[in-house]
Amino acid sequence: MTTTIAPHGGVLMNRVVKDEEREELLHYASSLRSIPINAWALSDLDLIGVGAFSPLDGFMQEADYISVVNHMRLANGTVWSIPITLGLDEEVITSLREGEELALIGDLDGLIYGILEVRSIYQADQQYEAVKVFKTDDPAHPGVAKLYAKPAYYVGGPIRLLNRPKPEQFDQFYYDPVETRRIFSEKGWRTVVGFQTRNPVHRAHEYIQKSAMEIVDALFLNPLVGETKSDDISADVRMRSYLVLLEHYYPKDRTFLGVFPAAMRYAGPREAIFHAIVRKNYGCTHFIVGRDHAGVGDYYGTYEAQEIFGQFSKEDLGITPLFFEHSFFCTRCGNMASSKTCPHDSSDHLHLSGTKVRALLRAGQCPPEQFTRPEVAQILIDGMKEAVVTQVD
Ligand code: ADX
Repeated sequence: MTTTIAPHGGVLMNRVVKDEEREELLHYASSLRSIPINAWALSDLDLIGVGAFSPLDGFMQEADYISVVNHMRLANGTVWSIPITLGLDEEVITSLREGEELALIGDLDGLIYGILEVRSIYQADQQYEAVKVFKTDDPAHPGVAKLYAKPAYYVGGPIRLLNRPKPEQFDQFYYDPVETRRIFSEKGWRTVVGFQTRNPVHRAHEYIQKSAMEIVDALFLNPLVGETKSDDISADVRMRSYLVLLEHYYPKDRTFLGVFPAAMRYAGPREAIFHAIVRKNYGCTHFIVGRDHAGVGDYYGTYEAQEIFGQFSKEDLGITPLFFEHSFFCTRCGNMASSKTCPHDSSDHLHLSGTKVRALLRAGQCPPEQFTRPEVAQILIDGMKEAVVTQVD
């Protein structure tokens, strides 16, 4: 067995309550005030519970929140770049007292998912938070819009997880950090590179993954499948596309597919740090950051999400980022390349915008195979057709 990388903050959190204690707590929770939480908060609760967000043991209390917003560190100095907070309506907040426990229930199914011990009740300046975290207060930014949609009163404290959200599909690809760590170790992988994506894997993604695979033992393909903006391709279509791609083009003994059930924040540079830290908790030693990681529109510079890593020491992060330049297919080189490896003019490079690719797929046409593997394109075309049928239905 190989020893895996230490989790962020040193200890892998586990707030999952099981067996008899769970039964007792579920019974107890039914006597508590119940607070409905949405899918986003539920995914945060779950990821805190299983230790993916280690060292967090609950929703952020005010001191951590202020420190994270201003300095990208928890109050004890540990690096953390994205606030993980629970917003509650003002009328609930005014009747809350510190020390009270709340039952967190799904807003759609009414199921008790966890218990929160209220340690901190505070009001957030969401515009300030937006500017610090997203570098913009523009409500057109999808992450800022989500932030503004959330009540500005936050409640923080440790949680206990009593039920897990059930995936609708692909549940065999949901692994907790403790499981991925065990699996990587059993496979004898000493170095594993994590890859975050909210998109199908196109040739540029494949190129940077495989460039990284040349220097580490294995790839953890870890697509984000939580909430994304409505024009991103759905997680189930993407999952089918990853499976077909891995089947045809990746070595089975050096790749591992598991989902990351978190919501996408679109916070660019700060989210890159967050993504790296969380992948460390899953057992990755390396993490890929390419062009405009976790970006949206023109809010962030192409390499800002790489530059931000310069603000932290190796010890601060623990995981090693691997940076990649904007990659493309060069018709003169006859292969995938970046400006680091290709001397030719940009007119020799194959560039397709997301809009153009979507238009091709919608028309049932495959993008060039130098851009997307044909097997992947076919899945995406079928996915588009299904989406249209569903809309019509
Ligand atoms: S993200 O929002 O999840 O970052 P996406 O799925 O597009 O979006 O990207 C996944 C990873 O691949 C990110 O690290 C991103 O920077 C990188 N990436 C995407 N396209 C390219 C490209 N053409 N060249 C280099 N890196 C890229």
